[in-house]
Amino acid sequence: MIAYKIALIPGDGVGADVIDAAWIVLEAAARKFGFGLSPQRFDWSCDYYLKHGCMMPDHGLATLRAFDSILLGAVGWPARVPDSVSLHGLLLPIRKAFDLYVNARPHKLLSGTTGPLRSEKFDILCIRENTEGEYCGAGGRIHVGTPDEVAVETSIFTRRGVERILRYGFEQASKRSGRLASVTKSNAQKHSMVFWDEVTDELAASYPDVQVSRYHVDAIAARFVMNPETLDVVVASNLFGDILSDLGAAIQGGLGFAASANINPKGGVPSMFEPVHGSAPDIAGKGIANPIATIWSGALMLEHLGERSAAAAILSAIESVTSQKKSRTPDQGGKSSTTEVSLAVLEAIERPA
Ligand code: NAI
Ligand code: MG
Repeated sequence: MIAYKIALIPGDGVGADVIDAAWIVLEAAARKFGFGLSPQRFDWSCDYYLKHGCMMPDHGLATLRAFDSILLGAVGWPARVPDSVSLHGLLLPIRKAFDLYVNARPHKLLSGTTGPLRSEKFDILCIRENTEGEYCGAGGRIHVGTPDEVAVETSIFTRRGVERILRYGFEQASKRSGRLASVTKSNAQKHSMVFWDEVTDELAASYPDVQVSRYHVDAIAARFVMNPETLDVVVASNLFGDILSDLGAAIQGGLGFAASANINPKGGVPSMFEPVHGSAPDIAGKGIANPIATIWSGALMLEHLGERSAAAAILSAIESVTSQKKSRTPDQGGKSSTTEVSLAVLEAIERPA
């Protein structure tokens, strides 16, 4: 029997609760579909930092490389460790080391849930470039603290980086509805975004089955709210994708449902799956975090590993729970605990069809 090696990094705050909740569901799916999961848990977190002076040990990335996948809870505890230290010491180095250049986030309303919009029939896959662009970190500051202070932050768009993320977008569109929305701001940013548009046009020739629409980021933000049902696969740069995918999380009913995959489609390295939300310090320790975003992220992980039936079964178990509206955490207006919701999903998986 095949057994996938999974690195579990619960991280901070509600991270441990949601990872434990997702893990029992993943194990149930593995039992049902006849494959194994071999987990190893790492306590890398802000607590770890306070004890050891680093978010993970020196050999951390080398250790992770041996795994098939990484499932991460959340990183950050700003009251004790600055976010610039914690995120740059754990989450971002993992994305960088394994060149996880795709950040994919599905946005749709699960059965029985409601979002803030009138339109309920949308199913968007947001694909964000995850390694360069506006977040590449190039820049600096001079004359700090003086009236002459200057801060420069440069975006870097490479042909390799733009081409590979757009190609992934085309491929996903081709597998889904055949519609791709490419997001830029090429009216205002005449170098990088015009370049993005040109590469889009070049690639379009190789995907005749995909219909590409170009949107400026401000216009597509409005469309996410007014006509989300007209969108399918949306591909965007690091910054634009970051913002749009939080908007996507909002229209699907909040962070409790927003799942994400950090993928290197070429394989050979572990990809990383995580809920979009952070460590939620305001509810940490109360056992009431919504585990669905993490369970769904676990399903994305199984899909990436090739266990499509198990992934589909998890999603349908999630929806059987959300549609019954019995087991809901407080963010969804219910009184259930994190564990109660995950046990309900587990039971739905184990129920004979
Ligand atoms: P957050 O996502 O942790 O919380 C925002 C709000 O959403 C809070 O009111 C929280 O209670 C609620 N929330 C989040 N997840 C929830 C869940 N599963 N169920 C119910 N309610 C939930 O964002 P915040 O407060 O800005 O950040 C807290 C820490 O997390 C910071 O250190 C931040 O940098 C970090 N962070 C880490 C991320 C990651 O690891 N990928 C992503 C976002 C934030
Ligand atoms: Mg974000």
